[in-house]
Amino acid sequence: ENSEKKELIEIHEKACEVYAYVLKDLAVGEKALAYLKNRELTEETIETFRVGFSPDDRKFLSTLFLKQGRKKEVLLKTGLFLEGDDGELFDRFSGRIMFPIRNEHGEVVAFSGRKVFTAEEAKINPDIKKTKYMNSPESLIFNKSQLLFNLDLAKNTIRKQGEVFLFEGQMDVIAAYQAGIPNGVASLGTSLTDKQIQQIARVCKSVITVFDGDNAGIKATNRAIDLFEKFPRLTLQIVSLSEGLDPDEYARKYGETSLVQTLKNGRISWFEFRKRFLRIEKNLENHAEQIGYINALLQELAKVSSNLEIDAYLNEITQEFPRFSYKVLLDQLKELQGKR
Ligand code: UTP
Ligand code: MN
Ligand code: MN
Ligand code: MN
Ligand code: MN
Repeated sequence: ENSEKKELIEIHEKACEVYAYVLKDLAVGEKALAYLKNRELTEETIETFRVGFSPDDRKFLSTLFLKQGRKKEVLLKTGLFLEGDDGELFDRFSGRIMFPIRNEHGEVVAFSGRKVFTAEEAKINPDIKKTKYMNSPESLIFNKSQLLFNLDLAKNTIRKQGEVFLFEGQMDVIAAYQAGIPNGVASLGTSLTDKQIQQIARVCKSVITVFDGDNAGIKATNRAIDLFEKFPRLTLQIVSLSEGLDPDEYARKYGETSLVQTLKNGRISWFEFRKRFLRIEKNLENHAEQIGYINALLQELAKVSSNLEIDAYLNEITQEFPRFSYKVLLDQLKELQGKR
C-alpha cells in the first residue's frame, strides 16, 4: 500500500510540474496567466504555490501519462482521470487554473481547479459560477476532511508566532501570504471539521478565523465557534470583514497593508462575535428582548469550561446591562449549566 501511495504522489508531482509549465510557457496558458496577474499574483507567489493550468483538452494529461507507460488502473486511482464507456481515459480537470493541494509533508496529493472567469463575465453568464472550483475526489492519499491547505508551508511560522489564520479558500491564503502573512491555512470549502482543528492543535494554541464577510462566511464562523467548544485549550478569535468581502477581495480593495492591519488589530473574541450576531434585529430597549438576549448569551457561557473566561464575559454583560447584578447572572448561568 505504501508503494502504491508513493506512486500516486509521484503522479501528482509530475502533473503539478506539467500544469505549471503549461501556465508559464505555453500559449494555451496565456489567458490563465493574464487572469492571475490581473488578480495581482506575483510570479514568486505562483512559484511558491506551484500554480498551474490544465489545458482545455480532455486528453492532455492522460495521453501524456499513458505514453510514458503508466498503467490505466493506477492513473484512475489518482482521481485525476475519468473513464469513458469504452474504457478511454479523460482528464478530470480541463480549462482550469490548478492549485496543488499539499499534505503536511509538502507532497502534492490533490488539486483544486478554478475556472477562468472574471466577475464581469460572471455577471453576464451567472451559470459559469456553478462549479467555480472543482477538487480532486478522495483517494488513498487525499482525505479532504483532515487536510488543511498550506499547513506544510505555514507550519514553521505558526509555531514561531504561536497562532494561525484560518481562511475559507486558497486564494485567501495566497493573498495573505503576499501581504506578508505566511501563517495562513484554509479548510477548502469543506466546512471545517474536528480533524482539521486537531491538526491545528498540534502546532499552536491560538486560532484566528477570517472567513468571508458574506452570509455563508458568518454562518461558517458560528459553526466554527461551536466546533471549538470541544477544544478548550485553543483560543479562538474572529476577524469579520466588512461589506461581505473575503480576505483577498479586501486586500485588492483596500490594499495589503490594510488587510495586515485588520488581521492584526481587527480581532474580536468568539463571545463578542456571538454578541454582535445575537443582537441583530433585536431591540434591546425592550425588556423582554433584553432578557432573551442575555439568556442566549448565558447559554453560550454554559458551554465554557474556563472559569476565568466565564468571569470575564459575565463582567462584560454586567457592564452593558447594569440593572442585572453579577451574582444573579452567575446564578442563572449555574442553573443553565445544571440543565446540560
Ligand atoms: P468562495 O466561493 O469564497 O471562493 O469559496 P473564493 O475562495 O473566494 O474564490 P475566488 O476568489 O473567486 O477565486 C471558498 C472556497 O470553497 C471552495 C474553494 O476551496 C474555495 O476557495 N469551493 C468554492 C469549492 O470547492 N467549490 C466551489 O464551487 C466554490
Ligand atoms: Mn465564500
Ligand atoms: Mn454553540
Ligand atoms: Mn471567498
Ligand atoms: Mn475570493
